[in-house]
Amino acid sequence: MNVYDSARMADVLAPLGYTPVDGAAGADMIILNTCHIREKAAEKVYSELGRLKGLKDRPVAEGGPVIIAVAGCVAQAEGAEILRRAPYVDIVFGPQTYHRLPEMVARAGRAGGAVLDTEFPPEPKFDGLPEPTAGKGRSAFLTVQEGCDKFCTFCVVPYTRGAEYSRPAADVLAEARHYAAAGVREITLLGQNVNCYHGEGPRGGEWGLGRLIAEIAEIVGVDRIRYTTSYPADMDGSLIAAHRDVAELMPFLHLPVQSGSDRVLAAMNRRHGGAEYRRLVDKLRKARPDLALSSDFIVGFPGETDADFRQTLEMVEDIGFTQAYSFKYSPRPGTPASLEPQVDDQTKIDRLAALQELLDSQQRAFNEGCVGRVMGVLFDCRGRVPGQLVGRSPYMQPVHAQVAESLLGTIQPLRITGGFANSLAGALTGSAAA
Ligand code: 5AD
Ligand code: SF4
Repeated sequence: MNVYDSARMADVLAPLGYTPVDGAAGADMIILNTCHIREKAAEKVYSELGRLKGLKDRPVAEGGPVIIAVAGCVAQAEGAEILRRAPYVDIVFGPQTYHRLPEMVARAGRAGGAVLDTEFPPEPKFDGLPEPTAGKGRSAFLTVQEGCDKFCTFCVVPYTRGAEYSRPAADVLAEARHYAAAGVREITLLGQNVNCYHGEGPRGGEWGLGRLIAEIAEIVGVDRIRYTTSYPADMDGSLIAAHRDVAELMPFLHLPVQSGSDRVLAAMNRRHGGAEYRRLVDKLRKARPDLALSSDFIVGFPGETDADFRQTLEMVEDIGFTQAYSFKYSPRPGTPASLEPQVDDQTKIDRLAALQELLDSQQRAFNEGCVGRVMGVLFDCRGRVPGQLVGRSPYMQPVHAQVAESLLGTIQPLRITGGFANSLAGALTGSAAA
């Protein structure tokens, strides 16, 4: 979502004459768009700010002082603390106020100290954003929902991103049509808890995510749809049906389970146990038999025992996740779990290593099992080797192939010829190769 937000910040700043550049050196303004989800991500902000400090006092002959801004969830959570630790920062603003950036930039240009805007404004920021630019790629992110009311006991999101909000369906459809008209072939719908989407329908009533996906699939040019990130307990019948009925919906789903232990899941305030999660996966696989699943896991949550952790490993094997992200529990300020007695760090390190070894072996087995299959691949960039393009399979695996440059931005059927730890190799099938 930070990638999407950054692109929208660029849209907001375009009328002021700003265009994105590839690096900090030479830029007139530098915005760090930050993440507060784990301590490591938050700490990176301060080390990055330290590095940027030297760029601040650019001589007038070279354009004058550089504006340095901190955006995103660290800005939201730490606000004035950032200005205390890095007094050369000009602007601090949260994820819900970036539509006001032009005003903040104007204020930063005047005397009177730094600008701090971490409110949760009553007007949704989406109403204050200009038309999006489609970017360079054939794949676009589209935020449909933001914020979260679930309050998992480890998570800062409800505090930094605020309460749940769904954009009206008409706005989402207009943005999707805009991307399709600009040549985008794949749209990934975004939300902290995207499958709780309940946006106002174009003719009244409410649309859930299943309905929204079905309507986006009708837009000419949209060949692929994905959505992330979902909360298991919010997976409703119409969304499961969309996996059966909507061919454009890719057979790959990121559905975080966090832990395989009911005890830990309850302590996390997740509103499902292991059995509910397994039943849900059965239903999804009945709807879409070739569905591959990805997940997030936290190890070393307060109170997690060896037996709890073994249940996580069992869950990974039972479900057969083909990919996953896993993290050591990181206590976040203001969250209930941070106040509980903590698991020691070495135990977290050992559990993370064991989990990642299992996940890696499953990912490799899945990739190797793809050899011989024919898959649609959306080519979205050049490879490292001359004459090579890289694209994405329906399951999000990067696929390398020696193909003509003219195929960039197209979806081609490829026969998979190699399966590796993190990627595949493929070649055009007979008819397309001829
Ligand atoms: N510590 C470790 N991992 C966390 N996540 C969220 N909060 C924390 C935390 N305090 C992980 C969860 C979530 C993903 C986005 O980040 O697994 O699904
Ligand atoms: Fe955080 Fe997701 Fe739980 Fe919401 S549902 S509190 S975003 S982990």
